Amino acid sequence: MSNVADWHVIKVLRDGGGSRPTVMRIQRDGEDQVLKDYAGCDSVFAALLGKLLTRREARALLKLDSAAGVPRLLGQPGSRALYMEWVGGISIKEALTQEIDWPKFLAELENTLRVIHAQGVAHCDLRGLSNILVGPDQTPYIIDFVSCFFSGSRWNFIQRWVFRRFCEADRQALLKLRQRVAPESMNTADAALIVHSGIFNRAMRRVGQGIRKLSLWLLTRQSRTQSGR
Ligand SMILES: Nc1ncnc2c1ncn2[C@@H]1O[C@H](COP(=O)(O)OP(=O)(O)OP(=O)(O)O)[C@@H](O)[C@H]1O
Ligand SMILES: [Mg+2]
Repeated sequence: MSNVADWHVIKVLRDGGGSRPTVMRIQRDGEDQVLKDYAGCDSVFAALLGKLLTRREARALLKLDSAAGVPRLLGQPGSRALYMEWVGGISIKEALTQEIDWPKFLAELENTLRVIHAQGVAHCDLRGLSNILVGPDQTPYIIDFVSCFFSGSRWNFIQRWVFRRFCEADRQALLKLRQRVAPESMNTADAALIVHSGIFNRAMRRVGQGIRKLSLWLLTRQSRTQSGR
């Protein structure tokens, strides 16, 4: 757990363990914030990847400091933890049971994603939908930039090419959401894009899953116990 005692927990949003950080809603500096802390996950993972992942998420949040629909970074109590703005809101799954103006929500969400991409950040983990929140007044929020990919410098053609592919995958994730919650608002081009979702996106997803499984296996005791070792 972090070393600073100027806050108290309101609610644990997600228990840490394995490769997962502890995510808590806390009260700090007189306001609700979120503390995301890798100290709670497996010690080997925390030592090796906790710092790296925290640095990446902090870098993305800093880059996106002026983007509406992304929580503000509010500090780093150590190298493996960060404070960010608590944006409130509910998950898409919960929102599916409520009256939401989906076309309006999706238009704002797409706009937020455009701004994020324009700032040189691809999110890379929007498919599961748990990283999109329906905020107060039905405003969209995109959270959890731990898997993000940066655009790279102007002359880094390979990184920039990969970045554009990840941006495409982000846009397709939103199209999938549109197909689910407001299929009547899809045009033919949208539908065609979904059908041909692209070999690259599927391949990148497999690469991502493979890396995640491999790092879990190598770095956490939990997975080795589960696999009987
Ligand atoms: N800034 C925030 N404001 C409000 N809620 C948040 C915020 N950050 C995280 N949460 C809540 O905490 C949950 C877990 O956070 P996050 O996605 O960053 O961690 P995670 O390790 O990827 O967890 P998961 O696998 O559940 O997505 C989110 O699904 C969301 O409900
Ligand atoms: Mg998440």
